[in-house]
Amino acid sequence: MPLNAPVRYRPDLEQIKADEQTAIDSINESMRFIVGKTHADQGKALRGVHAKSHALLQAELTVHEGLPPELTQGIFAEPGRIFPALVRISSIAGDMLPDTVSLPRGFSIKIFDVPGERLAGSEDDTTQDFLFATAPAFSAPDAAGFAKSLKLVAQTTDRVEGLKIAMSAVLRPLVRLLQGLGIEIGILKALGGYPENHVLGERYFTQVPIRFGDFVAKLDVVPRSANFRGLTGERVDLGRGPNVLRDTAADVIGREGGEWTLRAQLCRDLSTNPIEDSSVAWPEDGNPYLDIATITVAPQMSWSDSRSRVMDDQMSFRPWRGVEAHRPLGNIMRARRQSYPVSVDTRAALNGCPIHEPKQPPAGL
Ligand code: HEM
Repeated sequence: MPLNAPVRYRPDLEQIKADEQTAIDSINESMRFIVGKTHADQGKALRGVHAKSHALLQAELTVHEGLPPELTQGIFAEPGRIFPALVRISSIAGDMLPDTVSLPRGFSIKIFDVPGERLAGSEDDTTQDFLFATAPAFSAPDAAGFAKSLKLVAQTTDRVEGLKIAMSAVLRPLVRLLQGLGIEIGILKALGGYPENHVLGERYFTQVPIRFGDFVAKLDVVPRSANFRGLTGERVDLGRGPNVLRDTAADVIGREGGEWTLRAQLCRDLSTNPIEDSSVAWPEDGNPYLDIATITVAPQMSWSDSRSRVMDDQMSFRPWRGVEAHRPLGNIMRARRQSYPVSVDTRAALNGCPIHEPKQPPAGL
C-alpha cells in the first residue's frame, strides 16, 4: 500500500506555550546542580546527563543512492556523498556509575563538512549533530514534565551508589518479566532496570522531531552489519566488571568494526504524529522508518583515555548544532536549545578545560 504523503514543514507546526521558560529554567538549574555536585564529589565536572561513554568512534556516513525525492533532503540531498563523522555511545546518568546500574543508552553522531544554511547559534560550525536514545519516545510529554523528574534525579546524583546497584539487580529481571507480558515501563528502566543489552545491537531513536528539508521527521539508527545485528538482544554479563559495556564493544569494534543504518520516519499525519508531545512514538504501522544512510566504523580501538580526553572532556554534541534544514522541533527541542549550553559551559568552567567545536575529526584519536 502506498504511504500517505508527508506533511510539509512550516514554522506554525510548532506551538509555543506562554509558560515554557519556567520549566526550562528549572531544568537548567538541575543541570547546573548535577554538574556541580559531580565536580565537588569526584573533582571532575561531567555531562549533566550521559556522562559515561562506552564507545568513542571515528566513522563515515554515506548517503544512499537512489533515494526517493522525499528523502533526498537537507544534508542527505546528494546521493553517494560520504561525510567523516564521530560517534559517541553513552549511558544516561550524569554520574560515573559501574555498568551494574543498567540504564538507557545514548548514541550521538557528529557529521563533518555538511552543506547548508546554519541554525542561529551554530553559524561558526561546519558540523551536524544528531542525538539518539534507546526508546522510541521521550519519557515526558514536555519540558514541564521532564523538569519534575529531573529534580528527583538530581537529588540522587553521586549518592547511594550501592543502593543504585542493588536496585538495578532487582529491577532488571522485573523489567524482563513485564516485557515478556508485553508491558513497557520506562521509569523502571530509567531507575536501573534497563535490560543488559550489548550496546552495538541496540536501536537508537531521536525520539523528538526535526525538520527534514521540505518535510518533518524522526530518525533512528539500527544495526546493519551482520556482526552488529547478531548482537541484538544479546545479554551482557554485567558482573564481569564496572566497564563491561565498553569492553564488550571494544572486542567487536577492535576486531571487525561494523555498520549501522540511519533511517527517517516522515511525519505523515499530524493527529497521530504530533510535533509538540514528545511522549508519543509515531506509529510505524503504515509509516515505517526508511533507510537514508550507512554509518561505517572501521576496526579501531573504540575507547581509550586519549579518546576520552578529546571526545568526553573537550567536545560536546547538541541538537541545535547543525543546519536550518534539520531545525529541531517542538517543546522538548526548544528546552534543549538552552540546557545543553548550560551543561557544557558549567563543565568547561569547572574543569578549566575549554570545549571547542572541531572543523575536522581530530587527528590521532
Ligand atoms: C528537555 C529534554 C532534554 C534535556 C534538558 C537534555 C539535556 C542534556 C544535556 C544537558 C546533556 C549534556 C550536554 C553536555 O554537557 O555536553 C545531554 C546529553 C545527551 N542527551 Fe539530552 N536532553 C534532553 C532530551 C534528550 C532526548 C530527547 C534525547 C534523545 C533521544 C537525548 C539524548 C542525549 C544524548 C545521546 C546525550 C549525550 C551527548 C553526548 O554524547 O555528548 N536528550 N542532554
